[in-house]
Amino acid sequence: MTRLRRLERDDLTIAAAWTNDPDVRNSLLIVYPLSLEHENEWFQAQLRRDPACQPFVIETEVPAGADAAAGGKEWRPIGVLGFHELSWRTRCAEFGIFIGERTQWGRGLGTDAARTLIRWGFLELNLNRVWLRVFDDNARAIRSYEKLGFVVEGRLRQDRYHDGRHSDTLVMGLLRGEFPD
Ligand SMILES: CC(C)(COP(=O)(O)OP(=O)(O)OC[C@H]1O[C@@H](n2cnc3c(N)ncnc32)[C@H](O)[C@@H]1OP(=O)(O)O)[C@@H](O)C(=O)NCCC(=O)NCCS
Repeated sequence: MTRLRRLERDDLTIAAAWTNDPDVRNSLLIVYPLSLEHENEWFQAQLRRDPACQPFVIETEVPAGADAAAGGKEWRPIGVLGFHELSWRTRCAEFGIFIGERTQWGRGLGTDAARTLIRWGFLELNLNRVWLRVFDDNARAIRSYEKLGFVVEGRLRQDRYHDGRHSDTLVMGLLRGEFPD
C-alpha cells in the first residue's frame, strides 16, 4: 500500500541520492548526476508551477526502528511521481514516476501509487488523456503501465543514446474511458 504527499525541502537529500543511483537515473530522462544544489533549484522551480504539475512523494509503510519488534510501523518515502506537462485545453498530461529505493521495486507499489495519481488526474483534474515516455528496454515499467491500462501508441526510433548505442523510446497512453472508476 502507498500514500502520496507533497514533496518537502527535507526530502531533497534522499531525492538526490535516488537520482544519483545509476540504475534509477538511467531509466529516467536525467543524464547528468545531480547535486543537492541542483535539487534545490529544481524544487524552487516546481513551487512556481501549476499545482496540478507539482511533484508528490510516494510513501509506504515499513517496520518502525525500535518499535519494529512490537509490530510498529511508519510511513517512509520511497520515490517521486507527478504530471510533468498538462494542457487544460486538450486535458492531456504527461506522467512520470520513479521508486528510488531499489528494495521496493517489483512489489506492486509503483503501480499502486501511479493508480492513485492517475485517478486524481481523471476524477479531480478532469483530464481526458494521460501519456508517458518509457525506454523500450524497461520491461518492469512497461508491465506496470500495462497493468494500469496504458497501451503503446508509438515508438520514437533511436530517440535515446546510452551506453554507447541508440535505442527506442515508447509513448504509452491511457484515456479516461479506459480507466475504471
Ligand atoms: C517502474 C516502476 C515505477 C514500477 O513500479 P514497481 O512497483 O516496481 O512495479 P510493480 O511491482 O507494480 O509491477 C512490475 C511488473 O513488472 C514485472 N516485471 C519485473 N521485471 C520484469 C522484467 N524484467 N520483464 C518483464 N516483466 C517484469 C513484474 O512481474 C510486475 O508484473 P506482475 O505484477 O504482472 O507480476 C519502478 O520499478 C521504478 O521506479 N523503477 C525505476 C525507475 C523507473 O524505471 N521509472 C520509470 C521510468 S519510465
